[in-house]
Order: sequence, then C-alpha cells, then structure tokens
Amino acid sequence: MQIVLREVHDSDLPVFFRQMNDPEALHMAAFTPKDPADRDAFDAHWKRIRASADVQRTILADGDVVGSAAVYGEPGEREVTYWIDRAYWGRGIATAALRELIVQVPERPLYARAAADNTGSLRVLEKCGFRVAAQASGYAQARGAEIDEFVLTLDA
Ligand SMILES: CC(C)(COP(=O)(O)OP(=O)(O)OC[C@H]1O[C@@H](n2cnc3c(N)ncnc32)[C@H](O)[C@@H]1OP(=O)(O)O)[C@@H](O)C(=O)NCCC(=O)NCCS
Repeated sequence: MQIVLREVHDSDLPVFFRQMNDPEALHMAAFTPKDPADRDAFDAHWKRIRASADVQRTILADGDVVGSAAVYGEPGEREVTYWIDRAYWGRGIATAALRELIVQVPERPLYARAAADNTGSLRVLEKCGFRVAAQASGYAQARGAEIDEFVLTLDA
C-alpha cells in the first residue's frame, strides 16, 4: 500500500467528520471535542487550524483518503496527532504516516499525548521513536471521566 501525506483539500473535511465520529475511535482517542457531531463546531475548528501555522496533512492510502495527521501548538511545544479511518486499522498506516510526518517536520523536540490505555497509538509512537516522558491525567470527553495519559517526546 502506498501511503502519501498531502495538503488538506476542502473535499477531505466531510470524510474527516465521518471518521472522527466513529464511536470506537472516539473511545480510543478519549481526549476528543465536547460534541464531535456538531458540524458547525467542526467546520469552525478546521477553518481556524487551516489558517494557523499548524501542519495539517491528509493521509492517502493508494489514493484513498484514510485519515489525517498534524503537528500543532506553540514553538518548542509542538505536538503530533493522527486519526485513521477504522476500516483501515491494523495495516501499518498510522506508523507509515507518522514516520513521514516527522520527516516533513524536522523540528525537535516533538511531543505527543495518548490515553494510557490507547495501546495502538502508544505502539505507533514508540515505533516512530517517541519515548514516554511523563504521566498526567485529564478530563476525557469521550469517557466522561478523568483518565491517565502519557506524554511522549521525540528528541532526535
Ligand atoms: C491508534 C490508531 C492511529 C492506530 O492506527 P493503525 O493504522 O491501525 O496503526 P498501525 O497499523 O500503524 O499499528 C501500529 C502498531 O500498533 C498496534 N496496534 C494498532 N491498533 C492497536 C490496538 N487497538 N490495540 C493494540 N495494538 C494496536 C499494531 O499491532 C502495530 O504494532 P506491531 O507493529 O507491533 O504489530 C488508530 O486506531 C486510530 O486512528 N484510532 C482512533 C484515533 C486515535 O486514537 N488517535 C490517536 C490519538 S493519541
């Protein structure tokens, strides 16, 4: 499968909206928007981030839009994030996409956060060279509770 990262197109947004409303994915990610089904809030969020200095990428697998990946935040505190359509899980796509993203964004350190029980995301990060630097806790909208999370860094 050929994995490519490209700029986000307007036509990707309805696909992201569907992918980011999958209940299983939301549970897994845990730290999610207050109301992921609010299309106006989704559109306002994407309008804001597409106008920012954040790096936003659409993930293509053999030409299909299968997810998104980004680097966002203040200089020196930049974080990676990614989301893959559930229909494509378990095929190495997140790992390939994150590997490419950290080549495209050479600044270091880069940070990541994952719910402590998001073993898939933690494994993706570990395979790309991120290491757990701290444990924290925060309110996870998708769980309706305070949960543990790991903070990871990529230093070199
Ligand atoms: C987490 C997520 C990005 C993984 O995407 P993916 O394309 O399936 O990941 P990969 O195929 O690259 O898998 C990488 C590794 O993680 C493991 N893995 C993936 N999902 C897993 C799961 N649910 N449980 C345990 N391990 C998992 C794979 O087995 C693989 O490990 P291996 O190479 O040692 O076998 C995807 O499930 C997702 O988008 N989830 C919802 C959003 C989310 O959680 N984003 C991250 C927020 S921090």
